Amino acid sequence: MSSPKITFYHDIRNLGINQNHWYAVARSIELKSQPLSITLWHQPIVLYRGCNGKIYGLEDICPHRFVKLSSGRAIADELECTYHGWRFESSGKCSHVPYLASNQKLPTCQIQTFPVQELNGFIWVFPGDKSLANLVSPQLIPEWEHLNYIATISVIKCRAHYSYLVENLMDMHHGHLHQNWQAWAAAELIDLSENDHQVDAYYQAQSYYKIDKIWSISQLLFPALRQLHPEPLNVSYIYPNWVSNLGKDFKIYCLLLPINERETQAYLIHFTSLHAFWRLHKLPEWFRRFVKKSLFGSAQKLLDGLVQQDVEMIEEEQQAYLKNPQRRNYELNSALVSTQRLIRKQAIK
Ligand code: FES
Ligand SMILES: [Fe+2]
Repeated sequence: MSSPKITFYHDIRNLGINQNHWYAVARSIELKSQPLSITLWHQPIVLYRGCNGKIYGLEDICPHRFVKLSSGRAIADELECTYHGWRFESSGKCSHVPYLASNQKLPTCQIQTFPVQELNGFIWVFPGDKSLANLVSPQLIPEWEHLNYIATISVIKCRAHYSYLVENLMDMHHGHLHQNWQAWAAAELIDLSENDHQVDAYYQAQSYYKIDKIWSISQLLFPALRQLHPEPLNVSYIYPNWVSNLGKDFKIYCLLLPINERETQAYLIHFTSLHAFWRLHKLPEWFRRFVKKSLFGSAQKLLDGLVQQDVEMIEEEQQAYLKNPQRRNYELNSALVSTQRLIRKQAIK
């Protein structure tokens, strides 16, 4: 008889998600005038902008012949299917059929709708029980607008269950993998706390970066300028997303978009703090805004490099699981036990 622990561990690779959360499904700039198709845990959703820029979310399936509505176009607040030109209101009702005969009525079809909001540069969708959408909020990202933070975004696309990505992000011992990118080193788990919504893991690590002079930003580009020094490294899985601080200079978010059991997308947002530059903060706001905008993406090469290495490992783990789902691994990091417990609790809610 297999032990319950083994079953617990392996089951996680097929678990679903808690739908009653807001999920970051796209960046705001990805949705222009053409409707955008996304998939959130098997659910195809079309996003489109109405006349005042408001975003609507409908099931991405035309009720007429089941083609994708996202191939159509937005007309004011309505969405027109590209095939026969049926139009739908943002409430999902059919409002117009171009060839409707005088003795015919509009079809009474009702497309499923999803609560959508645009916040902090991202489009968020709530796929669960609509009556609960107002009771929770999307992950807050105060640094997005704050003038003291420089952002870089990397998109993660991995052919693996989302649990592998979350575990990668919670296990800071994998700094070993990133040695050539010099992100952090020698992480040691100091403390751990968990509840039904989040897991917080507190590590002590060595950081390569110290952003205390204006030229320090160039450390992101030139390894020779980096010097190891101790910093606290705190990572939190705040279901369904991940947030991390490395000392005072770096904050990183990972906004997860689980697509299905074998595919996950996520946005990794890295913020470099400019808090140390008091002279900069005295300059006019327009200039600080200009600096924030101009330095956007400063850590792109570093972030993309880290993501590529992580994705390779995560996909290998997934493949190994598919080859032999019963095989048990050895785990030494208690943060991962807590992480799996939270995934499970949330998924079966
Ligand atoms: S399939 Fe959409 S209008 Fe016919
Ligand atoms: Fe990593």
